Order: sequence, then C-alpha cells, then structure tokens
Amino acid sequence: MELPKIHSITKKLLVALVGAFLLLFLLFHMTANLFILRHDDGAWYSAFCHFMGTNWVVKIFEVILLGVVALHILLTLWLALTNRLARPTRYHQPQRSKTHTTSKLMAWTGVLIFAFLVMHFCQFYFVKTGWVKGQYMVEVEKLQNEEVNTIMQYSAQNGMEPKDVVAAVENQMAMYADQLAPEQVAEMEANMQSLKNAVPVAEFISKSILEDNLSEDRKWIRHITYEERQMLKEKAPECGVEPDFYYMSRELFHNGIMVLLYLVTFVVLFMHLRHAFPSAFQTLGLNNYKYNTAIEVCGQIYTWIITLGFAAVPILVFLGL
Ligand code: HEM
Repeated sequence: MELPKIHSITKKLLVALVGAFLLLFLLFHMTANLFILRHDDGAWYSAFCHFMGTNWVVKIFEVILLGVVALHILLTLWLALTNRLARPTRYHQPQRSKTHTTSKLMAWTGVLIFAFLVMHFCQFYFVKTGWVKGQYMVEVEKLQNEEVNTIMQYSAQNGMEPKDVVAAVENQMAMYADQLAPEQVAEMEANMQSLKNAVPVAEFISKSILEDNLSEDRKWIRHITYEERQMLKEKAPECGVEPDFYYMSRELFHNGIMVLLYLVTFVVLFMHLRHAFPSAFQTLGLNNYKYNTAIEVCGQIYTWIITLGFAAVPILVFLGL
C-alpha cells in the first residue's frame, strides 16, 4: 500500500503546529473549567458558556478547533503508518531506545485521549448540537413577549390557569365575531393563535417559578428537561435555550465512576503532554542547547498546571467543596 507523498518533516511540522494550538486550547479550557468550582449558582460559568455558545467569532474558532483535533489525529496516524510501511519487517531485537518507548507511548496515550473525547463529547458537546439529551437553561427575559406577559398578568390577577385565561378571551371574541368585518375576524384569529402559542410558555414560566428553578439572580430558568426544551424551541424559537453545563458538570462529578474515569484520563493526558510540549518545540526548531532546560522546565510546569487544574474540578465537586 502506498500513501500520498508528503515529506515526513512537513507532516511533523504540521503535527507540531496543530499540537501547539491544542496546548493553548487546553490551557484556556482548564482555566474556564475552574469557574465550575465557584459556589455562585453557575453565574460565572454559565455566562462564560453563554458567551462561547453565542459569539460568532468563538463559533468560527470552535469549527477550527474541531478541524484541528481531527487533523492532529489523522496526521499522527498517517505518520505512524508511513513509519511502519517504511519498515514492513520488524526488528529482530526489540528496540530499547528511550525515543522508541515514548513515541510508542504517545500513540497509546493518544488513542486513550481519543476514546475519552468520544465520551466527553457525548456528555457535553453533543448536547449543544442537540444529538444527546441533557439539562438546559434559558434567560427568563427572552421568553417574555407581549402575549406571554399578558397571559401571566391576567392569570395572576384573576387566579386562573393560563389556558383558562385564553379560553375566556376566546369566548369573549366569539360573542363579537359576527359584528366584525371579515378582515377584522382574520386579525382576531391571528392574535388568538399567538395567544394560544404563548400558553405553554406562560405555563412553563409559572411552573419554573413555583418549583424554584430560577437562578439566584432570577435571570435564568434552570433544570429544563429535553422535552421542555423541544417545546420552547417550537413555541418560542427565538428564546435561545442552551445547555446548562454548570449543573451538568456538577451532576456528572457526583458519580464516583465518572470522577475516576476523568482522573485516569488526566494521568494519561499528563503522559501525553510531557512528551508533546518539548517535542513541539523541537520540531518547530525553537529549541537549542541554550534553551533546552528552560523548555523542559516550562513543559513540566505547563503539564502539572493543566493536570492539576483539570483534576481539581471532579475531585472538589465530588468532595462537595
Ligand atoms: C474537568 C474536566 C473537564 C470538564 C468539566 C469539561 C467540560 C466541558 C464542557 C462543559 C464542554 C462544552 C463547552 C461548550 O461547548 O461550550 C467541553 C467541550 C470540550 N472539551 Fe472539555 N471538559 C473537561 C476536560 C477536557 C479535556 C481533558 C479535554 C481534552 C483532552 C477536553 C476537550 C474538550 C473539547 C475538544 C471540547 C469541544 C470544544 C468546545 O466546545 O470548547 N475537555 N468540555
């Protein structure tokens, strides 16, 4: 089998550039995750996720990031495969060089991180794309249009259910319908339809207030189920209902098995990064004997910060701190 020819050094350079981008992403992701540890009812983390989910520059970055992750995997697989094809018969003597062991380890830790990412995306990212069910939240203000407010006001003033308010309005209108011109009847029917559409939304807001699903600052309705999200998407398409990553993360790390799985991944990530950091510098030609120690030390510091920073979240949440 022959693979398309790209100079091995070009491939290595691409892997290093892409890897360097991922090193920066991990630092950013880890720092943002620390907001989960704040006991602020998710105010900071949700605001961050909201920004990340709605800002178009971030959305472009996200596409680039996912492309870069895929490219990193493909390039490393390709490098490994070309190396293997270049020497189809194995060495008789097992290789004992340090480089051989670390690069073999890179392949295995890479595979494990990929497996983690599949699980991780099913737990979080695919909730955002709507492929997996999760918990959601929505800004109260975005749900409150004229119809919803009218129904809620009437319902509160008269102690009536939202649907009864609309039924009463419909009865009133039916009494006058024969005195109106056809175009006025058509307008009335259109208004009636918007009021009917607003009923489930008004019911949803009332229920959320009653069940105390509002955030501390009363800005967000939280703990929204998948079915409620579907209803909101249909009846109030502009409301921008989004995943509640703060509660989803906290809930996930109340599960000991998940905490363990994440911690094992962080150990694997530690091993992967320990090699990746200096290796990226070396391939990009940014190392020389003068800076080697500095690069090694920075690599150590970076790897420990990333690993401990990521690990702090599941451990502290699990311990209820
Ligand atoms: C405590 C550990 C972690 C938590 C709580 C966490 C949480 C999250 C959440 C909530 C999202 C969705 C954010 C959004 O799309 O707006 C996400 C996305 C993502 N995570 Fe993590 N994560 C953790 C560790 C990791 C690790 C170790 C990696 C890489 C090895 C990673 C890679 C990613 C990637 C590539 C995405 C998709 C890109 C993005 O949406 O930003 N995560 N993570």
